[in-house]
Amino acid sequence: MHASAKLPRVVSQSILNPTIESLLEGKVEFVNWDTCDMAESPIDGIYCYGHRKVDAALMDRFPNLKVISNHGVGVDHIDLDAARQRGIPVGNTPGVLDGAVADLAFSLLLAAARRLAEGDRYARRPDVVAFATGERHGRDVHGATLGIVGLGNIGSQIAKRARGFDMQILYHNRTPRSVVEKDFIARWVTLDDLLTESDFVVLIVPLTDATRNMISYRELALMKPTATLVNIARGGVVDTQALTETMLAKKIFAAALDVTEPEPLPRDHPLLSLNNVTLTPHLGSATVQTRRKMAELSVENLLAGLAGKPLVERIA
Ligand code: 8YV
Repeated sequence: MHASAKLPRVVSQSILNPTIESLLEGKVEFVNWDTCDMAESPIDGIYCYGHRKVDAALMDRFPNLKVISNHGVGVDHIDLDAARQRGIPVGNTPGVLDGAVADLAFSLLLAAARRLAEGDRYARRPDVVAFATGERHGRDVHGATLGIVGLGNIGSQIAKRARGFDMQILYHNRTPRSVVEKDFIARWVTLDDLLTESDFVVLIVPLTDATRNMISYRELALMKPTATLVNIARGGVVDTQALTETMLAKKIFAAALDVTEPEPLPRDHPLLSLNNVTLTPHLGSATVQTRRKMAELSVENLLAGLAGKPLVERIA
């Protein structure tokens, strides 16, 4: 990261990826988020790489702020109303990551259904000298019923994948999307009906005040004992304590979580020790190709905002 009096100064986390740094080489001066309080000269932009909180207080610390650019589509860590009130454009990276996130959602669904991580651990055990044929039976995915909570762009990609597995597709949104229903033969149902009828429930809603803890004790109790819950949205969409008790009591077949609340979970958290829980470390969009596209788009947003030009993708 190069310091220069003339370059726009941008606050970001200390460790970015090489692609982002190379795209911004010589175009901005990075200021470390952790030490930006001591920044002598004005800050022109914030680049969110990860989910550090960007609230009104942070924005007011930088009166010269021209843009907030988010590497990622989820912006629940950014106070959008505060940005709007201050006239600070916020950019994110929708669209470019839909396929990668949908791929991981389906990977988690399959891994949980077929007890893949558990099977891998078993197959590596030094004491296993013969595989027990009658153990570790999973659940069929082909022909099963998939319930998608949040059928947006990523949810539509998940539905597309489900068609390949001959799954029956239910979805719940605040408002039905007839186009998607036609394309993927998906049927809108109430959340309770989705939870009751689905063999696999996939959460892919943005984290908002309305969706925080939307899956808690009541909702989990509606699920079939043979059902699997996949969370590819945000950890805060699920009541962690309710899920923990559900999985400890084996009230549903499995849970597969790319996101948790908090994230990561404390190292002694019960969910870490359960065979009916599959975990990944927030890998939703984490492919080489997709992260490059996200880097390019978020950098385009940042540079456009710094230049006072319209952002390519503006969410606030
Ligand atoms: C990454 C994500 O965590 O796009 C999102 O909302 O959660 C993921 O892609 C994020 O991009 C990290 O900056």
